[in-house]
Amino acid sequence: MFASRFDSLPPSPFPRLRTLLEGIEPAATPIDLGIGEPKHAVPQFLRAALDDHFDEYNRYPPAQGTPELRQAIAGWAARRYGTGDMIDADRHVVPLCGSREGLFNIALVCIPETAGPPPAVLMPNPFYQCYGVGAAAAGAEPVFLPTPRGSGFLPDLDAIDDATLARTSLFYFCSPANPQGAVANLDDLMTLIERARHFGFTVLFDECYSEIYLNDPPPGALDAARELGGSLENIVIFNSLSKRSNLAGLRSGFCIGDAAIMSAYLKFRNLAAPQMPLPVQAAATLAWNDEAHVEENRNLYRVKIRLAEELLAGRYEFYAPEGGFFLWLDMSDHGGGQEAARTLWREAGLRVVPGDFLARDAADGGNDNAAFVRVALVHDEEITGEALQRMTKTLD
Ligand SMILES: Cc1ncc(COP(=O)(O)O)c(C=O)c1O
Repeated sequence: MFASRFDSLPPSPFPRLRTLLEGIEPAATPIDLGIGEPKHAVPQFLRAALDDHFDEYNRYPPAQGTPELRQAIAGWAARRYGTGDMIDADRHVVPLCGSREGLFNIALVCIPETAGPPPAVLMPNPFYQCYGVGAAAAGAEPVFLPTPRGSGFLPDLDAIDDATLARTSLFYFCSPANPQGAVANLDDLMTLIERARHFGFTVLFDECYSEIYLNDPPPGALDAARELGGSLENIVIFNSLSKRSNLAGLRSGFCIGDAAIMSAYLKFRNLAAPQMPLPVQAAATLAWNDEAHVEENRNLYRVKIRLAEELLAGRYEFYAPEGGFFLWLDMSDHGGGQEAARTLWREAGLRVVPGDFLARDAADGGNDNAAFVRVALVHDEEITGEALQRMTKTLD
C-alpha cells in the first residue's frame, strides 16, 4: 500500500534522461552537461574546520544551528543586501541541510488544511522539481505559471488573476531562474511581496543561484523587503553553499524569513527534520564569512559564459544568462529538445537535459519548453569549450 498523492508527479529529469538515451552508444568521450553540479574546486580553507570539529560527530546538532552559523548567515545577508539590522539571527534565520529539504518541508508547515477546495501553490514552469513535491505532500493544488521569452523567462505577475491569488497559500519564485538564468528586477520583487501581503500568502524565494552572475549582483527578496520598509512578513528566502561555494555535497543552506513562520517551522524541524552535523556547521560558518572564494568562482563562470557567447552567438536563440550557470537553448531547428538531446549524445557524447523534462505538461499534453535543452556550464573552461565546439559541429 502506498500513498497516492505523489502518483501524478513525473520522475526526476535525470532518470528520464537515462531512459531517453538508453541503448545509444556515444561516438565521443562523454561530457555531462546535464546535472547542475558544480565541478570547480571545493574551497580548501574549509578542510581545517571540518578536521577541528571532527570529534563533534558524536553529538546531535541543534536544529536551529549554532549561534555562530546563524550570525554568519545573518551577517552575509546584511552585507549582500544592505539590510542593516533587519535580520535577527535568532528569530529570522534557520540553517538547512541544503535548500532542497527546506523548500520541500516548509510546505508542510505553511499550507493549511482546508475542508473546501485545496489551496493553490504557484510556481514557475519550468521549475525545480522539489516545489511540486512540496505542494503534493501538503495536499495543495500546484498552479504552473508559464515563463515564455516574452515575459523575460519569468512568471508574468500581472497575468495571475485575483481569484487565483486569493486562494494561494504559497508561491515558489526562483531568481536567478533555473533553467533560464533570468533575473527578476527589484520592482517585480516588491510587487510580488505586496501582493503576498495583500492576499495573505507566503512567497518562498529560491535564490540559490544569487552569487553566480554575469554583471551586477541580482536583486533579491531582501532588497525588496528593505525597500518596502524592512519587514520580513509573508516571505522566506532560501539560499545555499551548493552553487556559491561549490559545496553541493556538504548539504548546507539556510532560510531567512518571517519570524512567525520561522518559529512554526523550527518547531516542526525540532521534531522531524534533519540537522546539519556540527563539523559541517563550522565549515559553513567560515564559508559564509568569506567572499574571496566566491568572487573567484563567479569569475570562472563568467569566462565560460563569455566563451559560450563567442561559440554559440547566432545559434539556438542563444543569450547569455544574467544569473546561474545554465544555457537555455532553443532546438526548434534540430527536432526539439528530446531529439537534440539524443543527437548530441549519439554524435558528440554530450549529455543535456530536454526542456520538457524540467516542466509540467499542459492539460492538453503540450509543453512550451519542449523546444529547449538545458546545458550546465559546470566543467572547467577547457572541457566546456570542447563540449560547445562539439555541439556546433554536430548540429551545424
Ligand atoms: C533552483 C534550485 N533550487 C534549489 C536547489 C537545491 O540546492 P541545494 O539543496 O543543494 O541547496 C537546486 C539544486 O540544483 C536548484 O537548482
